Amino acid sequence: MLIFANFWIDFIILITVLFSIIYYYCTSTFNVWKKLNVPYIRPIPLFGNYLRVALGIENPMETYRKIYCELAGFKYGGMFQMRTPYLMIRDPEIINNILIKDFSYFTDRGIYVDFKTEPLSEVLFLMNNPRWKKFRSKLSPAFSSGKLKQMFNQIEKCGHDMINNIFAELKKNPNDIDMRDVVAKYSMDVIGSCAFGLTLNVASDDTSLFRKYGKTAFGPSILYFIREICVMISPAILKILRLTFFPSKTTAFFGSVFKETKTYREQNNVLRNDIVHALIQAHQSDENSSKDETLMESQILSNAFGFFAAGFDTTSTSISYCLYELALKKNIQDRVREEIKLTKSKYNGVIDNEFLNDLHYLDMVIAGNK
Ligand code: HEM
Repeated sequence: MLIFANFWIDFIILITVLFSIIYYYCTSTFNVWKKLNVPYIRPIPLFGNYLRVALGIENPMETYRKIYCELAGFKYGGMFQMRTPYLMIRDPEIINNILIKDFSYFTDRGIYVDFKTEPLSEVLFLMNNPRWKKFRSKLSPAFSSGKLKQMFNQIEKCGHDMINNIFAELKKNPNDIDMRDVVAKYSMDVIGSCAFGLTLNVASDDTSLFRKYGKTAFGPSILYFIREICVMISPAILKILRLTFFPSKTTAFFGSVFKETKTYREQNNVLRNDIVHALIQAHQSDENSSKDETLMESQILSNAFGFFAAGFDTTSTSISYCLYELALKKNIQDRVREEIKLTKSKYNGVIDNEFLNDLHYLDMVIAGNK
């Protein structure tokens, strides 16, 4: 009988200790903002302010918007992504300082990726200093305004393909058109052509592998969701589960396409002012550098993919949101159309860089100032 009672006492002590450790782990970071006297949103154990995101019922952007509104009246405030404390800045002046004047202190985006286990995710966007600075200075020359001007004809050609695609879609279904899909194909053609010298024709090819794998780069997936939750609980879990930032099939596909393009250009002495060229140059000019300074082939491949991913999804999302807003606001839409017509006649129908730079009202619309 005594043995039985001792067992229960031990058992209760064990459970209490276990729960105390778990509770401590789930809440140990939650006094950070209080200690620093920073206003903050009250967290709940383990999930912080991220419960709805962790359960998959709310987009993180919506959560941030709510937190932003809850912190109204404060220049900044504390929040918790699971256990990790984050500071949300609300004051435009402080934001300006962080992004411009004091940028040298804020170079890292704070996205966790272990490049050792996922080398093809080693893209500029995900790098921290000093690695970021080294890559940035090598890749910046690809984006000079002169080089961007040279890309104009290629963009125009993709524009014509898009118009043809719109007519083809409207023939199939005159009442409905999925503009998100149309502009996604268009921007993929543009980035493929301008950045990689590849004529993809995604706009007219529904079976395009670029479209297939491009969609998976940022598309929602259960694995990505699990990865994000693991990062927020403890990045160590990622190493065990081997979950990558970008789907590995996607990076492998773009990596092999870039490798073929690179080899073709090297063997045939093709010179073209684009991102592939900048990456090849960055690779070659480093051959005599120290080991630490050398950009490895995998880094070149991953960054080619990085430009592709950063270029097409952002552009197509911005265009489709802009078109959506214009569809809702007929008066603004009419003014945009009027401006384009007037400017076109001013430039005798020639659509070039000067023409685009003269579309001031459209520029305000895209920037969200209208
Ligand atoms: C409307 C279109 C676009 C939007 C809204 C957009 C948005 C952004 C944002 C918000 C960032 C992060 C900035 C920061 O943290 O300071 C970024 C970074 C970046 N974007 Fe874009 N982007 C667009 C188009 C493009 C295009 C066309 C390319 C390439 C061809 C590109 C390549 C990159 C790269 C490489 C970075 C990382 C830069 C670095 O770490 O130094 N983006 N973009």
